[in-house]
Amino acid sequence: MYRTHTCGCLRADHINEVVTLAGWVQKVRNLGAMTFIDLRDRYGITQVVVEEHSPTEARETAVRVGREWVLQVTGRVIERESKNPKMPTGDIEVSATEIRVLNEAQTPPFTIEENSDGGDDLRMKYRYLDLRRPPLQRNMILRHKMAQEIRRFLDSEGFLEIETPYMVGSTPEGARDFVVPSRMNPNQFYALPQSPQTLKQLLMVAGYDKYFQIVRCFRDEDLRADRQPEFTQIDCEMAFVEQEDVIGVFERWAKHMFREVMGIEFAEPLRRMPWIEAMEKYGSDKPDLRFGMEFSDLTDLAKGHGFVVFDDAEYITGFAAEGCATYTRKQIDALTEYVKRPQVGAKGLIWIRMEAEGGVKSSIDKFYTPDEVRAMAERCGAKVGDMVFILCGKKFKTLTQLCALRLEVAQQLGLRDPKKFAPLWVVDFPMFEWDEETQRFYAMHHPFTSPKPEDVAYLESDPARVRANAYDFVCNGTEIGGGSIRIHDAKLQATIFKCLGFTPEKAQEQFGFLMNAFKFGAPPHGGLAFGFDRLCSLFGGSESIRDYIAFPKNNAGRDVMLDAPGYIDQTQLDELYLSLVKPEE
Ligand code: AMO
Repeated sequence: MYRTHTCGCLRADHINEVVTLAGWVQKVRNLGAMTFIDLRDRYGITQVVVEEHSPTEARETAVRVGREWVLQVTGRVIERESKNPKMPTGDIEVSATEIRVLNEAQTPPFTIEENSDGGDDLRMKYRYLDLRRPPLQRNMILRHKMAQEIRRFLDSEGFLEIETPYMVGSTPEGARDFVVPSRMNPNQFYALPQSPQTLKQLLMVAGYDKYFQIVRCFRDEDLRADRQPEFTQIDCEMAFVEQEDVIGVFERWAKHMFREVMGIEFAEPLRRMPWIEAMEKYGSDKPDLRFGMEFSDLTDLAKGHGFVVFDDAEYITGFAAEGCATYTRKQIDALTEYVKRPQVGAKGLIWIRMEAEGGVKSSIDKFYTPDEVRAMAERCGAKVGDMVFILCGKKFKTLTQLCALRLEVAQQLGLRDPKKFAPLWVVDFPMFEWDEETQRFYAMHHPFTSPKPEDVAYLESDPARVRANAYDFVCNGTEIGGGSIRIHDAKLQATIFKCLGFTPEKAQEQFGFLMNAFKFGAPPHGGLAFGFDRLCSLFGGSESIRDYIAFPKNNAGRDVMLDAPGYIDQTQLDELYLSLVKPEE
């Protein structure tokens, strides 16, 4: 037996017991007569003391050991002279009688403590050392706990966990596929699933009316803090349901997770917000509702007063930032620069200051009377002491830009509190999204999403007007999950493919398996998928999902620890009938 106890469990009750611990050396302090070794495992840290009267062998080993050596220590639990109330094991120490070196270690490239001195790249390269640090251990434990709660809840609701393959054909979710060449089928490729979307729909045809899976998905897309090329979904599908049924189960599930994992109770039904309201009030389909600063449409008030910028704009919108009338010229300039950055793309920023004395001052005073300016500010809900920020231009572009500003101002005001949670459902999404570049409609969700029955009539005459039976679960400005009621009727599916510009042949080639399956008795069905990594980082209070993935990729999609992706041998290439083309510089 390597150990009788872990490094986190000894307390005053254990005093006088002889114990054996095994773990890593966190720290050694050699005080001449005495040596202290902090021994760590994933349960905690216990102080080991080697004293003058300890056996010679133990004393000799103690002075030799270094950071991260793996030791087995046997000794008696004794009361500490100077107790450390900050450590759970701080009342005791283990007076060593025997120290066995299980393995020596090189000096680690960064300190393995609560706060490391290693930069991002170094910690990624030695991820297995980073994972020894308490914050990452806490994240892994949180993730584990959440996975157990997910399974417990869904099992209790009668969901079956069913695995689906990773080597499939292309499943369109809007990103590029990662592909795998097939040796046995020369020149042919599997695609890794962007999600098990079509497979879970086939499970509904097969009669497994409540399915779930905690499943890896693969998407070749630009990476961000909340995006990884391989990530995990909590994927679910149900048959014989309408939107209300799906939202009902998963609202209870979300509340269960908040309660069991975070100790937070949401008694009221979660807020529901139509997509258009989310866009017009917050400039985003994933509004951050931890704070206000709702937008107001100022187009009617602001246009037609001879101010060309507004007169030429399709849409004019603004919001009031509470208590920000004290912003200096410099602060306003900085925010103006912020909205002008290419990532945001606004041309300029208009402001109105609600002065303490009840006056108004603005950057458009030349063009409007004080009453006109005040009317705009009041439309935004501004009070004395507030500052109003206004942007204008094409409607949805302007709303998105103002969203970036709203989030920036909230960040500066400290309103994006990671301990506060504001979940909601965004509903009534448009069915299609127009793409200027390719001049065609794309499915906003995916091509299997059903339109609202009352909008079906407009499918061919006015596709932009059609709303979908789709819903997103949003919290704190992040899309945590999303889903829809699917089309289960082959004819309607064919019409949607037509709207999306698929020829019948192309639709048959890509989705024939699904459309054919629908000819064999497809039940009405729908579902959704949550981003598990995003849910973990939401609960854990971190911006980056990487902190909750044991072995993540970096921003360039590389695993720097494994040095992947990498080249393969010519023999491997030959077996796969592949030859390489050098990319152009
Ligand atoms: P969707 O594409 O919205 O829907 O994905 C569902 C959820 O997965 C998470 N997510 C990601 N997380 C990390 N990295 C990524 N690259 C990434 N992409 C998506 C998000 C998102 O809300 N098949 C449909 C679901 C359905 O209709 O049932 C789907 O995949 O949290």
